[in-house]
Amino acid sequence: MSSAKETPNKQQLPPSLDLKNWLPFVKKWSIITETLWLIPKRDNSGSMKELHHGEFIPQIPRQAILRFTKPYELVIDPFVGYGTTLVECQRLGRNGIGVELERHIAEVANRRIKEEQNPYNVKVEVIEGDSSDFDFNEILHERNFAEASLIIAHPPYHDIIKYGQDPRNLANARTLEDFLQAYGKVLDNVLRVLARSGYYVLVIGDKYTKGEWIPLGFHTMNETLKRGLKLKAICVKNFEETMAKRRQINLWKYRTLKLGTYFFKHEYVMFFRKE
Ligand SMILES: C[S@@+](CC[C@H](N)C(=O)[O-])C[C@H]1O[C@@H](n2cnc3c(N)ncnc32)[C@H](O)[C@@H]1O
Repeated sequence: MSSAKETPNKQQLPPSLDLKNWLPFVKKWSIITETLWLIPKRDNSGSMKELHHGEFIPQIPRQAILRFTKPYELVIDPFVGYGTTLVECQRLGRNGIGVELERHIAEVANRRIKEEQNPYNVKVEVIEGDSSDFDFNEILHERNFAEASLIIAHPPYHDIIKYGQDPRNLANARTLEDFLQAYGKVLDNVLRVLARSGYYVLVIGDKYTKGEWIPLGFHTMNETLKRGLKLKAICVKNFEETMAKRRQINLWKYRTLKLGTYFFKHEYVMFFRKE
């Protein structure tokens, strides 16, 4: 299996799916075409060697980028966090813009993209801002991009992780309704710059509140469908133990038995297309 950190020679073009010769590409990049994503190990290469609570594994944006963009097209991540999407853009020869509300998190993303090589000389950028009112049109115009081919959105799973104190952070929404409203605002804002036939990829998990399952995945899916996007796939990805849970695995198992609940082992990767 190829990893995205391979250093190409100068003449090599970024990887691109060509349906006339798809099989070698699918094999080389381990492209997943099924809805159950069992990814045994996080790619810890390069700047991904450090782990941050709440980030996704690089293989998620990699799959989306390789399937739904061509070399040098633009990818936007409105919840860019620690920069995983942008690192993958850089490795795969796609331009990328990521927006992050919290300065201390944006700084990590910036550091990571500087640590990585830029073999295809693409532009990737982390911008500190609030994605619900960020002027995506203006930034695209300034950077000479007409539109984005792909949006990858990995919002907070409501309040399960605290990213910072800013009330505009979706993780600080007081109620589920406030969270969904804030998610919808970001969605309305960012979808303006998505190309027609472009893909919107939503990565999210569910949560428990006081022993009750809260299906954040289906709530956010419904918010997304309200915007007229076409649902193309719901993939279920296995969830490795988080750093916190790894340390206390038996305690977590005991809790699920005691409360009559289940231990989270999956999250969703949903694919929508702008018609
Ligand atoms: C689940 S994390 C994303 C992690 C990212 N995929 C990665 O691999 O590092 C969600 C991120 O969204 C950010 N965020 C929350 N509300 C935001 C808003 N209104 N505008 C921009 N970023 C926001 C949080 O601070 C957090 O870093």
